[in-house]
Amino acid sequence: MTPDIKPLVAGNWKMNGERDKLDQLALLAAGLDAELAEKLDLAVCPPATLLYVATTLAEDTPLMVGAQNCHAEVEGAHTGEISAEMISDCEADFCIVGHSERRTDCGETDADVAAKVKACWRADLTAIVCIGETEAQYDAGEAESVLRGQISNSIPDGAEEENTVVAYEPVWAIGTGKTPSPDDIREIHAFIREELAERFGGHGERMTILYGGSVKPSNASELLMIENVDGALVGGASLKAADLLAICEAYRKT
Ligand code: 13P
Repeated sequence: MTPDIKPLVAGNWKMNGERDKLDQLALLAAGLDAELAEKLDLAVCPPATLLYVATTLAEDTPLMVGAQNCHAEVEGAHTGEISAEMISDCEADFCIVGHSERRTDCGETDADVAAKVKACWRADLTAIVCIGETEAQYDAGEAESVLRGQISNSIPDGAEEENTVVAYEPVWAIGTGKTPSPDDIREIHAFIREELAERFGGHGERMTILYGGSVKPSNASELLMIENVDGALVGGASLKAADLLAICEAYRKT
C-alpha cells in the first residue's frame, strides 16, 4: 500500500462471461459494504458485450466498470473495433490497455499502447496500462530494463494519478498459479514507483500501481500489503464474486 492512495481492485474477466454471469455483478455490489467501499475501489472489466448492461447494473452502487481494450481512433472503418468514446458512452470508468495477452495475441507494440492510452484520456476514461516481463526476460535478469522501456514508451507524457493506473503483471505469473516472492514484488514495485516519479514528478508518486498475476483469496493479504502495491488486477479469481470479495477483504482492517 502507499499512504494516501486509495487501493483499487479490478477484475479482468478476459473473454469469459455471457449474460448469465451478470448475477456476479449484483453479488459484488451487495458484498461491497460501506466499510469496505471506503477502504478500496472495486471495478469489474467484463467483455465488451456486457459493458453497458454492467454499468447499468452498477449504477447507484460503489462498483465501477471498465473495458478490456479500445482502438486509438474515435471512429471509422475499423471493423470489429471499439473506440474509447464508445466505452465512455457505455458509462464505463476504466479501460485496460496493453495487456500482455493483447501484446502477444494481437502484436500490440508500446507505441500502439501509448496511442490507446491517449484515446482513453480523450474519452475521459482512466487507462489501466499493463506492463510486465516474460519468464525468459525475468530469468535473464532483464525485468527492470524491460519495465523501464515499457514505462517510457507505453505511457505518454501527461500521465497523472487521475487518468492513469499502472498494472505490473509478470507474464509468467498470469494464469499459472506462480507469483514472484513478496520481496521481488516489493523491489519491482519500488523500481516502478521510482521510474514513474522520475518521469511524472508528484503525479508519479501518487499514481496507483497494481500487481496482477495469480492473485487469489489465499495470497491477497500477503501481496496487497506490500509497499507500493496499491491494489490488484485479478483474472481468474475475479470470475466469482465470492473470490473477488474475499480478495477485497484484505483491506478491511487497514
Ligand atoms: P490471473 O489472475 O488469472 O493470473 O490473470 C491476471 C491477469 O492477467 C489480469 O489482467
